[in-house]
Amino acid sequence: MDERESGVTAGLLSEEERALDLTLRPRSLGEFIGQNANKEQLQIFIKAALQRRDVLDHVLLSGPPGLGKTTLAYIIASEMGVSLRVTSGPAIERQGDLAAILTNLQPGDVLFIDEIHRLPRTVEEILYPAMEDFQIDIVIGKGPGARSVRLELPRFTLIGATTRAGLITGPLLTRFGVSCRLNYYPVEEMESIIVRAAGILNVEVDEEGSHEVARRSRGTPRVGNRLLRRVRDFAEVEADRVITGSVAKQAMSLLRIDDMGLDVLDKAILETVIDKFSGGPVGLKTLAASVGEEPDTLEDVYEPYLMQIGFLKRTPRGRVVTPRASEHMGRDITGEGESLF
Ligand SMILES: Nc1ncnc2c1ncn2[C@@H]1O[C@H](COP(=O)(O)OP(=O)(O)O)[C@@H](O)[C@H]1O
Ligand SMILES: [Mg+2]
Repeated sequence: MDERESGVTAGLLSEEERALDLTLRPRSLGEFIGQNANKEQLQIFIKAALQRRDVLDHVLLSGPPGLGKTTLAYIIASEMGVSLRVTSGPAIERQGDLAAILTNLQPGDVLFIDEIHRLPRTVEEILYPAMEDFQIDIVIGKGPGARSVRLELPRFTLIGATTRAGLITGPLLTRFGVSCRLNYYPVEEMESIIVRAAGILNVEVDEEGSHEVARRSRGTPRVGNRLLRRVRDFAEVEADRVITGSVAKQAMSLLRIDDMGLDVLDKAILETVIDKFSGGPVGLKTLAASVGEEPDTLEDVYEPYLMQIGFLKRTPRGRVVTPRASEHMGRDITGEGESLF
């Protein structure tokens, strides 16, 4: 098996994982654990929109993969009592594709555009009047006979999700009335998420067991759910079906997930920077090539967590490993970029 496929962190979802995501997806704001500031904000805006009998303002959800952006989009539509249309930035190639989607919306609908930062610029431009005035101008025909036709759209709510808020253009950004940035979940919230998921999956897990899974979940519900499933398999075969602290620890070492929740690729990244590039700085592309991963995956999935725990830094000259990371990896370096080896 490919090392990366066996990893629990990687961005690509198998069919099985998609199904797991669906099964475990909270259906209401009440069921959605954590992200309290965002939840409170959304609760108020939803209530106000319902009272006014109007659509909710356009919402931008940003944050690393697996933190609940898609889940929140479904929850918002459900709390508003409207339907959700789903598409994604890379799926919309031409203006006409988006125009077709927009003109087919029913009044009040939520249009969810995942990975909205990957929308082609020309397509993005027709979103501006659509979001602001609920109308679009489309050009019919070609050459001298071409004419522009204005189409009225039903009032709708756009929910955009992105792993890279920094790549959203200014004009698009200003058209979102609500912006929610999702953060990594603290261990206590991850414990609640694991306990909830265990209940749904009918897995028995004790307090220590859920703690051991939670603290290796990188603050990411999707990772927590994946780990829980793997640990359950282990518990069913090797232990008495119950996930205790020691069962969780054994399973994790089998999965080669360390104490901090770092998997094989995280460790490869750190080792590469430390051993091959003397602690850095090293450019993203070089680093990605060295560990055999896509630069985008490193930047979207791996780096944010390594930076969050203070193991990796982005500098203008490239990526640098911190002394803390070197210590964790059992390397003894005195400072940035200075290896004793
Ligand atoms: N706050 C939460 N509480 C419980 N489970 C969650 C929460 N956020 C996410 N999840 C779980 O993690 C999975 C991944 O969430 P998802 O919304 O698909 O993330 P994203 O769209 O940000 O990549 C969901 O299917 C759900 O099972
Ligand atoms: Mg998603």
